[in-house]
Amino acid sequence: MVQFNLPQNSKILKGKYYKDKTNSSNLKKVNIYRWEPSNDHNPRIDTFEVDMDNCGPKVLDILFKIKNEIDSSLTFRRSCAHGVCGSCAMNVDGINTLSCMKSHKEINGEINIYPLPHLKVIKDLVADLSTLYRQYESIEPWLKTKEKKNWSAEINQSKENRKKLDGLYECIMCACCSTSCPSYWWNEEKYLGPAVLLQAYRWIMDSRDEERKERLKTVADKLKLYGCHTIMNCTNSCPKGLNPAKAISSLKKMLATN
Ligand code: SF4
Ligand code: SF4
Ligand code: FES
Repeated sequence: MVQFNLPQNSKILKGKYYKDKTNSSNLKKVNIYRWEPSNDHNPRIDTFEVDMDNCGPKVLDILFKIKNEIDSSLTFRRSCAHGVCGSCAMNVDGINTLSCMKSHKEINGEINIYPLPHLKVIKDLVADLSTLYRQYESIEPWLKTKEKKNWSAEINQSKENRKKLDGLYECIMCACCSTSCPSYWWNEEKYLGPAVLLQAYRWIMDSRDEERKERLKTVADKLKLYGCHTIMNCTNSCPKGLNPAKAISSLKKMLATN
């Protein structure tokens, strides 16, 4: 049997236990991954007893409650709290999701919260998305035209062409899909992953863009696109209900027929 020896300080230890001080009869145990970069301590799982009678409906509300009332050092990203910015993505109860959209009532028993998997951790629930943003930049996610246009006027699009962007433009680059993709875990440096490939497809499908051929060429590279083995984790984890796996297979089909 294969045996893995993890570096000593990568083992996750049992952390602090924060007992309820409100005497609430409606408590939920919340286990949260903690890691502090300013010392050499191992990561740990802290457990918080949270009074659910005075808590909003989403997992993000629990995190705010803990930060405001129990441990102000708890670190997580969030901005809009309405499923628009993508910054509160994390792993809740074993599934990558947006904590501001995830209802804690859907979770039976204790709630386990980790950062997005397979990324370096910056602190607690904040994962390092620099590689993903570099990859996003590499597909040049903006409208490109061959000749200079009159940018003071709108570039019109027919209703039919606009419809082709449905299911693509809604992507908020939360990275839930890419960080649930085994191919991306194994080849993060070379394979673009589902989030960036869906975005690449979005620009290729935009009737106003004039660099479709060049864009296709950019993603055609073996690992950049063909790292996808149709495992489908990406589509199952998208909190916006999008289908990056379908976008990837459409890209492959386009390349095969162009
Ligand atoms: S496709 Fe879905 S999961 Fe992936 S980045 Fe976009 S919104 Fe997030
Ligand atoms: S379908 Fe492709 S991109 Fe999606 S999880 Fe599977 S390998 Fe990754
Ligand atoms: S905080 Fe913006 S999507 Fe959750």
